[in-house]
Amino acid sequence: MAINRPKGTEDHLPALSPKLTLDVSAQAHGWLVEKARRVLERAGAQRIDTPLFEEADLVKRGVGGSTDIVRKEMFTVYYFGDHGGYILRPEGTAAIVRAYLQNGLKQLPAPLKLWTHGPMFRAERQQRGRLRQFHQVDYEVLGSTDALVDAEAIALMVGVVRELGLTGVRVKLGSIGDPEDRERYNTYLRELFTPQLERLSDDSKDRLTRNPMRILDSKSASDQELLAELGVKPMLDFLGEEAGAHFRAVQAYLTEWGVDYDIDPSIVRGLDYYRRTAWELHHEGVGAKSALGGGGRYDGLAQELGSKEPIPGIGWAFGVERLLLALEAEGMALPEIAGPLLYVAALDEVNVPHAARTAMSARAHARAEFAYRAMKPAAAFRDAERRGAHWVALLGTDEVTQGTLSLKNIRTGEQRSLAAADLATFLQEHA
Ligand code: HAM
Repeated sequence: MAINRPKGTEDHLPALSPKLTLDVSAQAHGWLVEKARRVLERAGAQRIDTPLFEEADLVKRGVGGSTDIVRKEMFTVYYFGDHGGYILRPEGTAAIVRAYLQNGLKQLPAPLKLWTHGPMFRAERQQRGRLRQFHQVDYEVLGSTDALVDAEAIALMVGVVRELGLTGVRVKLGSIGDPEDRERYNTYLRELFTPQLERLSDDSKDRLTRNPMRILDSKSASDQELLAELGVKPMLDFLGEEAGAHFRAVQAYLTEWGVDYDIDPSIVRGLDYYRRTAWELHHEGVGAKSALGGGGRYDGLAQELGSKEPIPGIGWAFGVERLLLALEAEGMALPEIAGPLLYVAALDEVNVPHAARTAMSARAHARAEFAYRAMKPAAAFRDAERRGAHWVALLGTDEVTQGTLSLKNIRTGEQRSLAAADLATFLQEHA
C-alpha cells in the first residue's frame, strides 16, 4: 500500500512538477520569504530561529488555556520513555520571547527587532488555506511600549504585501485594551450572555466561563445571530484612558504615513496574550474568515513566561500559504522555470566522462547539467528542452579531439562552434 503525506500537510514541489500551483511550489515559497526578508532586514530586523518543538507549558502559558490552539489543536511529541511534555510549536511568538529571556537578549539595544520563518503546527480541520502544517513569516519587536513601534510593525506588514505586488489587502485594526479594560468588557459580556445561556453553542457556553470575548469570534451561525440580536457593544467602547490614547497615537502615525486601515471595533484575536493594538490583514481572494496574517501587542507575555520584569512586545505573523493563495487570486503566475544555461550530451559512450567534466567545470560560471548516457542528437535536444535548458553542447569524437563544442540555442535555433577554452567567457556573456 502506498503511503501518503499526513492530512493537512503539503509537499512543496520542484519547479518542473506536474499540477504545480503557487502555494505548493517550493520555488514560490522561497521567493516569498526572500522578499519578506529584504523588507524586514532593511528595517533592522535580525533573524532568529527557535526549535520546532517546545515544552508544552510554554504554549499553555503563552498562548493561553482558553484558546482553541491549546484546547484542541496541539500536536504532542512523544519519544520513548517520555510522557508527552513537548509539543510541536503552533506559532512563533511565545518561543521567541522564551529565547529572548533565556539568552539574555535584553542586553542588546532596545527595541530589538527579530524575524523568523518556518513551519507551525495546529491540528485544525483541513480546508482551503487551513493546514495542519503551515508556514509563517513572523516579526517581533521586544522592549518598547511606544505606539510608534506598533505603527511601524503594521506599516512593515503592509510593506511586505506591497513588495509581493498584492493589491487587494485590507488592514483591520482594533485594540483589546489593557487587562483591566478587558476584565470590564468580560464582565459586561457575562452579564449580557448569562440570561441567554441556553441559546449559546456548546463552545460558547464554555467560552462564557473561560474568556467571554472569544464568543464574538464564534463560527456558529446561531451564536452570530444572537450577537446581532443583542447588539453587543464592541471592546473599543471599553478602552481605558491610557489604552485609548495609545490606540489613537498608532492611528495618527499610520495616517501620517499614508498606510490605509479600517477600524474593526470587534477584532478578537485567537490567542490570549494580546493587549492594546491588535489587527489582521484580509484579502477577498482568500475568504473573509481566513486572514493573511495578524498581530498585536503582548506586553504581559514575558512575565507570564517567568520574567521578573515586564518586557513589552509586539509582532505579527503572515501565513505563507495564504499569501500565495492571495497572489494566485490576483492572477500571479508561477515564476518562469529557470533551467540550466548549458546542457552537455555526449554522442558516444566513451565521451560521457568528458561531457560530465565539461559541465562540471562550467558550473564555476553558470548552471550546467549533462546527460549520463550517450544520446542521439534528437534525444539530447528533447531532454534538454524538458529541463528548460538554453544551450545544448553535443560532444562527438571530433569535438573532443579538436577541443571544440558544437552549441545550439534551444529557443532560437542559433548554432555556433566554440573553442572549449572559450566556454567560460561564453557562459559569462550569456548568464
Ligand atoms: P495567528 O493569527 O494565529 O497569529 O496566525 C497568523 C497567521 O498564520 C494567520 O493569519 C494565517 O495566515 C496563518 N495561519 C494560522 N493558522 C493557520 C492554518 N491552520 N493554516 C494555514 N495558515 C494558518 C499568530 O500566530 C501570532 N503568533 C502572530 C503574532 C506574532 N502576534 C504577535 N506576534
